[in-house]
Amino acid sequence: MQKVIPAILTYDPAELKRQLGVVKEHTKWVHIDIMDGKFVPATSISIAELGEAYQFFNLEIHLMVKDPERYFEDCKAVGAKCVIFHRESTADMKKVLEEGIQYEFKKSIALNPETPVDTLLPFFEKIDSIVLMSIVPGAQGQEFISQVFGKIHEAKTIHPDIALLVDGGVGEVNIQDLFEAGCDRVAVGSGIWKTEDPIAALKKLEEMVS
Ligand code: DX5
Ligand code: ZN
Repeated sequence: MQKVIPAILTYDPAELKRQLGVVKEHTKWVHIDIMDGKFVPATSISIAELGEAYQFFNLEIHLMVKDPERYFEDCKAVGAKCVIFHRESTADMKKVLEEGIQYEFKKSIALNPETPVDTLLPFFEKIDSIVLMSIVPGAQGQEFISQVFGKIHEAKTIHPDIALLVDGGVGEVNIQDLFEAGCDRVAVGSGIWKTEDPIAALKKLEEMVS
């Protein structure tokens, strides 16, 4: 499985197309950030804007939205391979997971920086992976919150086999430490897009953990 996944966070469909075009020949997976203006203050492109992107990419859709199960049908319609939703986004995670059973895409629960790992205890067996946020969700380019290292350790202690993605503030300064700590994949936004050569940056990060 690919270890470094480009993250695309935008409200502008043209920018989505542009970024997909840039990475097209260089990545199979893309992490698409979806925001509803409620779970987080910002909004983003809608899921439907992904159109036929599934023909070229494996889509991982990160739902930073309230009541994420309402978006599952749209995720299916664009051929999502993996859908991430937040522990904090619903009062009834059991219902979200039950709703999810009918969908083929992989399911992953994300935890905000302040949410303890043990809030996942009832759900570990029902999901394919977990996402530990190392920034407050809602925007790219924020500073990495290093408490995520403790949470990686905790998650791996509770469930050594669970796949673990870290999302937010990842770059050359921390990527190796994250993988040494037990992280399996990272989503990277500004560490790719805010460089002069996004493809070179992506390749460098991949090399650092291969
Ligand atoms: C934050 C998103 C992240 C973000 C990562 O709300 O969930 O996936 O795009 O961007 P960087 O790497 O810049 O923190
Ligand atoms: Zn994300």
